[in-house]
Amino acid sequence: MMTTLGHTAEAVAEAERWTAHNYHPLPVVIADAAGAWVTDIDGRRYLDCLAGYSALNFGHRHPVLIEAARAQLDHLTLTSRAFLHNQFGPFCRDLAQLCGSELVLPMNTGAEAVESAIKVSRAWGYRVKGVPANQATIVVAAGNFHGRTTTIVSFSTDPDAYTDFGPYTPGFRVVPYGDLAALGEAVDETTVAVLIEPIQGEAGVLLPPAGYLAGIRALCTERNVLFVADEIQSGLGRTGETFACLNEGVTPDLYLLGKALGGGVVPVSAVVGPQSVLGVLRPGEHGSTFGGNPLACAVGRAVIGLLNTGEYQENARKLGVVLNDRLSSLIGQGVTAVRVRGLWAGVDIDPELMTGREAAKRLLARGVLAKDTHGSTIRFAPPLVISEDELHWAIDQFTSVL
Ligand SMILES: Cc1ncc(COP(=O)(O)O)c(C=O)c1O
Repeated sequence: MMTTLGHTAEAVAEAERWTAHNYHPLPVVIADAAGAWVTDIDGRRYLDCLAGYSALNFGHRHPVLIEAARAQLDHLTLTSRAFLHNQFGPFCRDLAQLCGSELVLPMNTGAEAVESAIKVSRAWGYRVKGVPANQATIVVAAGNFHGRTTTIVSFSTDPDAYTDFGPYTPGFRVVPYGDLAALGEAVDETTVAVLIEPIQGEAGVLLPPAGYLAGIRALCTERNVLFVADEIQSGLGRTGETFACLNEGVTPDLYLLGKALGGGVVPVSAVVGPQSVLGVLRPGEHGSTFGGNPLACAVGRAVIGLLNTGEYQENARKLGVVLNDRLSSLIGQGVTAVRVRGLWAGVDIDPELMTGREAAKRLLARGVLAKDTHGSTIRFAPPLVISEDELHWAIDQFTSVL
């Protein structure tokens, strides 16, 4: 642990001085972490209830993941895709099998996985479906969050993400989330994909209405359109299943994965799908210097190993019930609505009482890290290694804040 006591204000000022202000972080400067807990530079401990937006599903520095990274550092860290390496095939095999699918396209960040899926869907549309050149459309949902690249923000409905970043990439149709009829109307013969978050995380953990994902699956199959599920935040155990789509008994054509795939150690993302879709890519058409690098693959394999035990999904399912019960009991006591799936909750605070940001600040003062989103909503997404006692303690702090 760092021993520099009382230095938070200076460290905050230094960061503010030297960085672009594209984030508005809470005033805490973290220096150490293990499991569900972090320690700041002044020695204060906090229970992490954001978990790196679900990149830390297995907690901070999970020993199995750190060991996999350490062992790999002693051998090989980067080859580029110009050559193969001994972690590459096994990682892609293990991930394809985890997804019950056939091929893996590894990248680094979530946004890159989304960009890759857009390119693959378009190429599939032209080469397999027979869409006329440059006419492909992709249907997305309002309130989406798929990343920050220029193409992805082109179909964002969040003014902060969108405004002043044009000209925008054409080829996207936005329909209300949860509205199957609107989605059906937006699909035509030019449509190559429906790109959706099974649960909209950034929008406030918005859960799909009953039958929505199954309806998308049926529509996509009937109209020969790819169902692309962005499980970058919802996937890999968070909701109590390996994939949020599984809660609805639905299998998409393409899974987009990121965040927790790198175990909170390295950025690892991927598009996973069948040969009939990912097989359209030819050498030279897509790539990434760091995508599928040995360190990423070694850590990713260890992550898949953890998921294959089923323990983390089980804990998310079990503690998700506790989270739901406790948060639901706060409705009418400063909370207006609660949405929970596994260890993932969106909580709407009565706007008369305080903003989500204010709640996050007060939670920080009580030793809980959480993040607001959109006005009066706060979300809780602790690492899946959190214990029941710790979860109760975090909700006790939230109750006190209210
Ligand atoms: C659903 C979803 N898709 C894509 C992304 C983008 O991931 P990254 O920040 O790694 O580019 C995020 C990040 O929050 C996300 O939640």
